[in-house]
Amino acid sequence: MCQFENGAFQKKESSNFDFSISKFSNYQIFKLVTMNLKLKIWRQKGPKDNGKMVDYPISGISPDMSFLEMMDVLNDQLVEKGDLPVAFDHDCREGICGSCSMYINGEPHGPGRGITTCQLHMRSFTDGDTIHIEPWRAAAFPVIKDLVTDRSAFDRIIQAGGFISVNSGSPVDANAIPIDKHDSDRAFDAATCIGCGACVAACKNASAMLFTSAKVSHLSLLPQGQVEARDRVLAMINQMDEEGFGNCTNTGACEVECPKGISIENIARMNRQYLGAAISYSPPKATGGGD
Ligand code: SF4
Ligand code: FES
Repeated sequence: MCQFENGAFQKKESSNFDFSISKFSNYQIFKLVTMNLKLKIWRQKGPKDNGKMVDYPISGISPDMSFLEMMDVLNDQLVEKGDLPVAFDHDCREGICGSCSMYINGEPHGPGRGITTCQLHMRSFTDGDTIHIEPWRAAAFPVIKDLVTDRSAFDRIIQAGGFISVNSGSPVDANAIPIDKHDSDRAFDAATCIGCGACVAACKNASAMLFTSAKVSHLSLLPQGQVEARDRVLAMINQMDEEGFGNCTNTGACEVECPKGISIENIARMNRQYLGAAISYSPPKATGGGD
């Protein structure tokens, strides 16, 4: 027997059904291997528009399409009808750039774990499903249009201290600075943060602690980043607060929804560093003018 299961066309060996592709017309095969869906998408003309959910039925979607390819099909159909396409961010489409940020059925990046929206496939859904698609909901990420939000707050947190300004000179030989394997692994894991904002979107407080702590950790765990570690953690947390992100209350939703598996251990490490830096911090002495 052959049937459509979990969005995929299956052949069951145990049946005496005569499976022969020639017995189906092209139209029947198309109907068997494609999905019909009901999309409910947030449409917002601009930052000042109130916005609303709009229904878009869509058919002929292959289970092997990525979620963004499905959105491309929808946009092609909207343009053909003379409607405005749905605005959404995307760039690499392979889980690297962090642009494709959207809630899918209430979850940042949708139902998969450890993947971004562009890595989500339509076989994760079932024929006939209703899919709700919305932009990130956080005061620090205002909506620009439809599913596109302004995430420049993250850029400003990085600009506040997410860099190394010591003169590193010419490239040194490999292994000239021995680094503990455990530390280099943890620094590398933290450095895989792609700045997508799913941690903020998942948090009931819209906290950016997971993002900021990943950026603080990947530098402070390495010798080159330790020179400015104290100033960095103070500046980045101050900027995070200024941007209007909420506080962390240890619910752990950020870690669950993070497509790169960034651990909340980074938040604990950042809190320890912040406490130490705040206690030892002494403001620079004012230099007096005149004679
Ligand atoms: S910590 Fe994870 S969820 Fe947050 S911005 Fe980085 S990659 Fe995205
Ligand atoms: S488009 Fe780059 S991570 Fe999805």
